[in-house]
Amino acid sequence: MSRGGLRLGVNIDHVATIRNARGGTHPDPVKAARIAAAAGADGITAHLREDRRHITDADIAALARDIDLPLNLEMAATDEMLEIALRHRPHAACIVPERREERTTEGGLDAAGQHNSLSPLVRALGGARIRVSLFIEPDPLQLDAAVSLGAPVVELHTGAYAHAVIDGDAARTAELLERIRAAAAYGAARGLEIHAGHGLTFDNVAPVAAIGEIAELNIGHFLIGEAIFSGLDSAVRRMRLMMDQARSAAASAA
Ligand code: PXP
Repeated sequence: MSRGGLRLGVNIDHVATIRNARGGTHPDPVKAARIAAAAGADGITAHLREDRRHITDADIAALARDIDLPLNLEMAATDEMLEIALRHRPHAACIVPERREERTTEGGLDAAGQHNSLSPLVRALGGARIRVSLFIEPDPLQLDAAVSLGAPVVELHTGAYAHAVIDGDAARTAELLERIRAAAAYGAARGLEIHAGHGLTFDNVAPVAAIGEIAELNIGHFLIGEAIFSGLDSAVRRMRLMMDQARSAAASAA
């Protein structure tokens, strides 16, 4: 269970990436989800991409059926994905922008620019009691759009911040962290539940986990990569501990 109010969603997409490199059934994303749950994850996240490069339709069916934790389905804003979400009824659906040529979700959704096309999708998911989240840049314009669309949750894209940490650019890291902090405060004040994710690692998670308005972090690629060296159980436990320590240190400093 989450401690200090900060949940950890473990994204198991890249377990499927490794499986798909050879076909067959090993390693199994459902087994990974169970290990992550036992190690302290509060939810499991999976992105069914349009090109099915990692998670497949059968994985979504198995995860929805076989795991005890809430399932967060990351999905593009398409009729096909809406139909799949309505069929499997995950706990949550996070709407992400998707371009076939990108390696991963490289930027946030333009919720402001795509208001009219997103509106029926948000309504249909909400009507099926699926908790809708919009994956957006930490930008007040996008937060306002999420409020006006009636989405209860936003996930703030932390990718630019994560890159600045890798580049060793302290000034840019501080600026981008401040942008995430300000967006979390602004969004929470407007009644949104705030999540964050993308590119988070042991080296950059603490300052994000310390932001009190953030309720959930979704972390995938680093944890699955780290699992090669230390095992998935150990990687998730260590991430969980770092998040909890950062959150409680921030709470006692406040
Ligand atoms: N959150 C969202 C909405 C994402 O699209 C992704 C990547 O699939 C993640 C979190 C996890 O990012 P990473 O794999 O870099 O931890």
